[in-house]
Amino acid sequence: MGAVGHEMIKTLEQRKFPVGTLVPLDVAAMAGKTVRYNGADVIVQEAKKGAFVGVDVAIFSAGADASLVLAPVAVAEGAIVVDNSSAWRMDPKVPLVIPEVNPQALDAHNGIIANPNCSTIQMLVALKPIHDAFKIKRVVVSTYQAVSGTGGKAITELTEQAKAFASGKPIVANVYPRQILFNALPQIDVFLDNGYTKEEMKMVNETKKILDPAIEVSPTAVRVAVYRGHSEAINVQTEKPFSIPDVRALLAKAPGIKVMDDPSKLVYPTALDAEGKDETFIGRLRADPTIPNGLNMWVVSDNLRKGAALNAVQIAETLIERKLLK
Ligand SMILES: NC(=O)c1ccc[n+]([C@@H]2O[C@H](COP(=O)([O-])OP(=O)(O)OC[C@H]3O[C@@H](n4cnc5c(N)ncnc54)[C@H](OP(=O)(O)O)[C@@H]3O)[C@@H](O)[C@H]2O)c1
Repeated sequence: MGAVGHEMIKTLEQRKFPVGTLVPLDVAAMAGKTVRYNGADVIVQEAKKGAFVGVDVAIFSAGADASLVLAPVAVAEGAIVVDNSSAWRMDPKVPLVIPEVNPQALDAHNGIIANPNCSTIQMLVALKPIHDAFKIKRVVVSTYQAVSGTGGKAITELTEQAKAFASGKPIVANVYPRQILFNALPQIDVFLDNGYTKEEMKMVNETKKILDPAIEVSPTAVRVAVYRGHSEAINVQTEKPFSIPDVRALLAKAPGIKVMDDPSKLVYPTALDAEGKDETFIGRLRADPTIPNGLNMWVVSDNLRKGAALNAVQIAETLIERKLLK
């Protein structure tokens, strides 16, 4: 089971999601092993045709290749799929949902529901209240993304590089194209013909699908030597004028957000503050005097929680609230 899968089981437990029977699925080699759930050992089964019979909600975090093949199988066997991969996100028939932002999109689902990219989720949780009040025109975002966003093998790679450094051994890079220890890599996922990376274009396209097609996003996605928690420096331009105290008050009462913004006391969020937490943390709120109606802010969230497992479980909870589960 991968990084998101483990967090998913923890999140279901912590939120007391009404699970009748948990059916953990993995590749054939892991079948027969066990995972701990609510104090019991539950046997892992192979994810294959037939495995989804009797399943109400199938939460997928096995990567895009597995989702492309297995999500339609799960739907045919009667499950609603909540998929963490990028496989289905831009399919017009598939709702792409952040419960704090566009829960109503769930009503039109056809069996598969997509969880947005982790860096998009925390950005849009922060932007939604600002867009509703002041109408966002343009966003410039730079991300500082943790290695756990790549998955279990990248977490191990950072640890191995740290051990190698501490013991004077050569540092080996397998998962990333360069050493990640003590470094910042301006590449997340592959480069596209337009010079942007796939991760950057996910932020552009998913923002348009979830929040508003009129919002322009100019992104730079960077991988940093942090285990857990993505940080984002976000510059926003709105149509309507605002004051910083108004924005701070608006964000403070918005769902899923915790404002940590008092520079005089060195209060601002960091990746370590967000680790294991549910909220999207916002600080460094300040006006950008170089453009009309400009705002700068620093937005931090745990990529494995709100960026993946928590958002998926919240989608399942919202399906229940909206009476969309049979
Ligand atoms: N990590 C994040 O912050 C984050 C955030 C949002 C979305 N996501 C997405 O969530 C998915 C999982 O990410 P992750 O970080 O958990 O990656 P990961 O740690 O690499 O885990 C993926 C797991 O899926 C298993 N798997 C592969 N093919 C499978 C199949 N056909 N059936 C069942 N299991 C299969 C893998 O097994 P093997 O290792 O044996 O191949 C591995 O245990 C990815 O699509 C990722 O893009 C991740």
